Amino acid sequence: MATLKPIESLTPAQAKREYRRLAEMIAAYDKAYYQEDAPKVSDAEYDALRHRYEAIEAAFPEFGGPDSLTKQVGAAPSEKFAKIVHRVPMLSLGNIFSDEEVGEFVARVRRFLGLATDAPLAISAEPKIDGLSCSLRYENGHLVQAATRGDGYTGEDVTANVRTIQEIPHRLRGDAPEILEVRGEVYMTHADFAALNERQMAADKAVFANPRNAAAGSLRQLDASITATRPLHFFAYAWGEASREPAETQMGMVEAFKSYGLPVNPLMKLCHSAEELIAHYHAIEAQRALLPYDIDGVVYKVDSIALQKRLGFVSRAPRWATAHKFPAEKAITLLRDIEIQVGRTGALTPVARLEPITVGGVVVSNATLHNEDEIARKDIRIGDMVTIQRAGDVIPQVLGPVLDKRPAGATPYVFPHTCPVCGSAAIREIDPKTGTEDVVRRCTGGLVCPAQVIERLKHFVSRNAFDIEGLGEKQIAQFYADGLIKTAADIFTLQERDAKSLKRLKDREGYGETSARNLFEAIEARRRIALNRFIFALGIRHVGETNARRAARAFGTFEAFRTIASKAAEGSDERAELTNVEGFGPVVAEAIADFFAEPHNQQVLDALLQHVTPEPMEAIATASPVAGKTIVFTGALEHMTRDEAKAQAERLGAKVAGSVSKKTDLVVAGPGAGSKLTKAAELGIETISEEDWLKLSGS
Ligand code: IVH
Repeated sequence: MATLKPIESLTPAQAKREYRRLAEMIAAYDKAYYQEDAPKVSDAEYDALRHRYEAIEAAFPEFGGPDSLTKQVGAAPSEKFAKIVHRVPMLSLGNIFSDEEVGEFVARVRRFLGLATDAPLAISAEPKIDGLSCSLRYENGHLVQAATRGDGYTGEDVTANVRTIQEIPHRLRGDAPEILEVRGEVYMTHADFAALNERQMAADKAVFANPRNAAAGSLRQLDASITATRPLHFFAYAWGEASREPAETQMGMVEAFKSYGLPVNPLMKLCHSAEELIAHYHAIEAQRALLPYDIDGVVYKVDSIALQKRLGFVSRAPRWATAHKFPAEKAITLLRDIEIQVGRTGALTPVARLEPITVGGVVVSNATLHNEDEIARKDIRIGDMVTIQRAGDVIPQVLGPVLDKRPAGATPYVFPHTCPVCGSAAIREIDPKTGTEDVVRRCTGGLVCPAQVIERLKHFVSRNAFDIEGLGEKQIAQFYADGLIKTAADIFTLQERDAKSLKRLKDREGYGETSARNLFEAIEARRRIALNRFIFALGIRHVGETNARRAARAFGTFEAFRTIASKAAEGSDERAELTNVEGFGPVVAEAIADFFAEPHNQQVLDALLQHVTPEPMEAIATASPVAGKTIVFTGALEHMTRDEAKAQAERLGAKVAGSVSKKTDLVVAGPGAGSKLTKAAELGIETISEEDWLKLSGS
């Protein structure tokens, strides 16, 4: 920018060229800053660009059309997408990959429902659209809100953008329910994708890797007028909150959506057996190349909504639906190197660095090699040509070497026995119970290993944990390297220390007044945090999002959880209490107990709790009479299977235990109940019949 001409001396043509160029640069920097959290220039440079842009527009007001950046106040971080909490979570689907597994899916559904193999069971099959899911909220027939899926619980407000999609009605036709959240997929056709990329190229802008990325990039625009120029489409296939359900079946609901004026996929078919599902899967697969949009499989859904409700969910996916994915796409490329990454638990993971290659429309340059034994078993060597495979969103994997292309002199790969980051010994633990060696080699450096510490910090700030805007993986690595953040608690003292420091954050490369202030504000906003996120953030082994949520629900407050977990030595009542938490077993309970038994972890927690307040969790299903109670089912159940009864009780917020103890609140006994019933009587525990249970649970 040093040789800028004074604006008065610019010819209109020169001014126009510079004005356009500036608009492109600003848009690119906005994108890097707001959408990729990776600022490319300092705030000062950015401000200078905008300043010049505005000055040119002031001198040549005719340039300033409706698309002018001066008309878009959309650049401030506060203008980033607002968050929308989904009233009904937007969950994902389990995957299956073979015809055989279709039979297993149907059998599983039948088993859960206690249906005989010959009892009728209708299941729909429809294409799995490769776009991004979106929830459209209609109130009294008017489109009032649209949200992306986000993490399934909280999405981004894209209402203004969705309103620009022609195919999505702003008003529903006919007799739609008062409140209806329609869910479906936003996608871009192949032809529109190709045309968009041509336009991007002509304008010297980045091209999109595939139609899905293009659809996502187009929908998640801060400036809805850009979305309006991108041809997006929509298929409705599911729903969230609904004041009433206009049909009793999946097919009926989709028909209703169609009658309201929403686009639905024409390839949906009702099937009555695994064979019919498989036949329709292959029929769709055969048409795949001819369809104008990308699909990556076929989704099967139990048709009856009543049965869907009985089947419910496991963790984040429904029991009543599954995605049958198309086979993965394969390619052959050069394995340039094998890099060992060290995870937050010290696990050494081999990653293949590949000669970049396009597989199914996506450029792949890294792939997983799984573990030490896999590399040895397949004899994968650096310099080999290797077959790689990519299926949907799954991380690409190296299948094996192409032996007849092996270069002379390639030597077998030797997996390191020391940590590549801290140099500590890396060992494979022996399971004391089974005597077998763990497949994973782990660095024994613990807290002296910077890789482990950094990975833990990255986990702490990750999207489903503290999710601190402006503090992503890159910044954590930088702040750690500079000694600014060494523990989680340090994040919350950053501002205070910065104020006293000589090297202020705002003066650092890539920062400025605004971004430093935004970061501090984002940190401040997390001083109170949902209990499940807090527990997840701790990075306890085996405690992922689902188990963190379970712990939060079971204990309600962090103090309650910590008190029990800190006393949960093997054999103690507290350990039993942990094991008893819905969905936990001995392995999870042991991992939690081990975490809290570690004095360092207790110190870290003490320090962290000086700054952060985990918010108590609202009890789920508060209206349920069995919320928080421990129930034991015994004897034969006649109206539902044991699995269904358990799932139903858990949905209502109860815990289900296998044996009767002092802690049992309720025993549901069917015919033939024996010792458990006697024990309940001895302990004076309330006992009811299956019929009473059905009434109590409102089924
Ligand atoms: S049903 C409760 N139907 O696949 C399950 N999902 O892998 C509701 N998807 O997040 C989803 N086509 O974005 C359903 N015909 C279809 C779909 C579909 C694409 C996506 C959706 C979902 C993801 C799960």
